[in-house]
Amino acid sequence: MSNVKFNQSGEAQSTSTTTTGETEEEIQDDWTDYQFKGEAKLSVSDLDVHYGADHALKGVSMEIPEESVTALIGPSGCGKSTFLRCLNRMNDRISAAEVDGSVELDGEEIYQDRVNLVELRKRVGMVFQSPNPFPKSVKDNISYGPRKHGDIKTGLVAQMLGRANKDEEDELVERALRNAALWDEVKDRLDDNALGLSGGQQQRLCIARCLAVDSEVILMDEPASALDPIATAKIEDLVTDLAEKYTVVVVTHNMQQAARISDQTAVFLTGGELVEYDKTEKIFENPESQRVEDYVSGKFG
Ligand SMILES: Nc1ncnc2c1ncn2[C@@H]1O[C@H](COP(=O)(O)OP(=O)(O)OP(=O)(O)O)[C@@H](O)[C@H]1O
Ligand SMILES: [Mg+2]
Repeated sequence: MSNVKFNQSGEAQSTSTTTTGETEEEIQDDWTDYQFKGEAKLSVSDLDVHYGADHALKGVSMEIPEESVTALIGPSGCGKSTFLRCLNRMNDRISAAEVDGSVELDGEEIYQDRVNLVELRKRVGMVFQSPNPFPKSVKDNISYGPRKHGDIKTGLVAQMLGRANKDEEDELVERALRNAALWDEVKDRLDDNALGLSGGQQQRLCIARCLAVDSEVILMDEPASALDPIATAKIEDLVTDLAEKYTVVVVTHNMQQAARISDQTAVFLTGGELVEYDKTEKIFENPESQRVEDYVSGKFG
């Protein structure tokens, strides 16, 4: 079994034994070649999650680098969604879930009492498997968050500001839609109900909602699994582009997709264990663990 973890300078730390015939020093040499693109945005240490008697995540530690795409893969039930929900405390909403351990966002513990969960979930946004736009206009879907957070003034202040406020809102809506690669498709339908968009457009709208509130991290749980290949390709291109500015963590069952879009990949296996975490090429071409090799080559899962 391996227990791989990277520190912030990109050096690997491992207590593993090799099944590939290489010495541990040789593997260490490979790993130390891997440099994060930047600092760790999220640092997860010794994370355990129980749902009653079910131990869903076991002692997971990993550092998620900023401005990159981290893929989480593994068979059904291994804890990927549970892990993702730990990163913005969505598990707080599940009464059976008990979370132990530490998650730091930019070096600040998110599991402390005084954390403002609304602010946390603004900074760490989430996109789900099924697109979930509000049953409102395309434009309102985008402006709802900034209004709620006070980034666009409403009520009396808005009336006093008059047109200037409307310009501000229009600009914000356009910017978010452009950055989510959706503007050209919806610019003439901004007042139409978002539920009339295609599934792929709805999913990009959900991503645009995160961008509109200036999320820094975007968590995606199988964001393309309900989409056709063309819509999937658009989401994949968008995810790759987003990584220039955002930290993206994406759960996927599609190994080719993980290989195409991610910089690093974490492999969880049954029992809620993080078995290997490394540069994506290494996971797919030369994983250290036999179990990971069997999984990525389709022998099980
Ligand atoms: N709300 C919940 N209440 C109780 N148990 C849960 C809950 N959510 C998940 N679990 C359990 O935790 C374990 C991990 O589930 P999780 O949904 O995180 O897996 P997953 O890797 O995302 O699976 P999938 O690929 O099927 O989405 C499973 O045993 C599951 O039954
Ligand atoms: Mg899941």
